[in-house]
Amino acid sequence: MIYSRIIGTGRYLPENIVTNADLEKLVDTSDEWIRSRTGIERRHIALEGQGTTDLCEHAARNALEAAGVGPEEIDLIVVGTTTPDQVFPNVGVLLQSRLGMHGCPAFSVEAACTGFLYALSVADKFIQSGSARTALVVGGETISRITDWTDRTTAVLFGDGAGAVVLRADSAPGLVSTHLHADGQYKDLLYFPTGVSLGMQPVGGANSIQMKGNEVFKVAVNTLGRIVDETLLANGLQKKDIDWLIPHQANIRIIQATAKKLELPMERVILTVQDHGNTSAASVPMALDVAVRDGRIKSGDLLLLEAFGGGFTWGSALVRW
Ligand code: COA
Repeated sequence: MIYSRIIGTGRYLPENIVTNADLEKLVDTSDEWIRSRTGIERRHIALEGQGTTDLCEHAARNALEAAGVGPEEIDLIVVGTTTPDQVFPNVGVLLQSRLGMHGCPAFSVEAACTGFLYALSVADKFIQSGSARTALVVGGETISRITDWTDRTTAVLFGDGAGAVVLRADSAPGLVSTHLHADGQYKDLLYFPTGVSLGMQPVGGANSIQMKGNEVFKVAVNTLGRIVDETLLANGLQKKDIDWLIPHQANIRIIQATAKKLELPMERVILTVQDHGNTSAASVPMALDVAVRDGRIKSGDLLLLEAFGGGFTWGSALVRW
């Protein structure tokens, strides 16, 4: 049996930081409101001309360096993103070119905030089937580009960034299991209204991220609770077997609800939302990288990664480190 194992992680946040105090000058909001409702303190916004591929390239190079793997060893690239630089080539191909690579399959998957877990699961299947041996999996977003910065209900929530992992075939897990879901009946609760086939329009006003925050919150909490149960059940595990929860970083209150469901103290949850807000597909690999690099995650630990996003889409991955 072939499994995949994460052998290196990386992340990148653009240099430009926008604090809650900065947002107070733009819209009718307050640091206190944002912190108490979301846990967010600041977000990083890509500079003009800085695209999703730029952020992904930084994160990918960090992950390759951590893994001690050269680009020539990569035989698959999968990127989770909903904010590509161009319609095509896809971000995977643009990233491949930046890394000086030629020929291996490279593509992106679009699943909003669950994009990285979709990408990870796809790459895992390639490795399990023997179609790839060493894969670069990235979640990267410039969500700021589809946000209306005059709309206080969304502007305070989002930010840009990228996270990456290198996966390698191994005789033992590694990735123990992945679980993916989607349900389009919720398509009107969180969405961006226009696109290519129905006509592209400038971003702003009604043509920006639209969200029914309260309803998203309730479905997210319930759905993430269910996927925790599903992941444990599929592997015959108990809640106490999980060492670390590495959640999608959208909102501290959603994260606290999932930790409660797992009966995990917050000390066992990797929390980065305060530093960058909701970076969509980038948030799970960035949080993983933070905890790997600061030494909290140790060899043999069992990690539960989970995410929830527009669609709705949601997913989890159980990882033996
Ligand atoms: N600053 C100050 N006030 C704000 C505000 C802001 N940035 N945004 C909204 N408000 C106001 C609203 O206008 C409303 O005012 P009103 O009572 O006078 O009408 C009040 O705050 C309460 O709004 P409400 O939307 O009910 O707040 P909430 O407690 O539900 O918190 C969210 C809003 C968005 C923080 C919360 O619903 C949430 O976290 N939802 C999930 C969002 C998410 O994670 N999405 C991504 C999933 S991947």
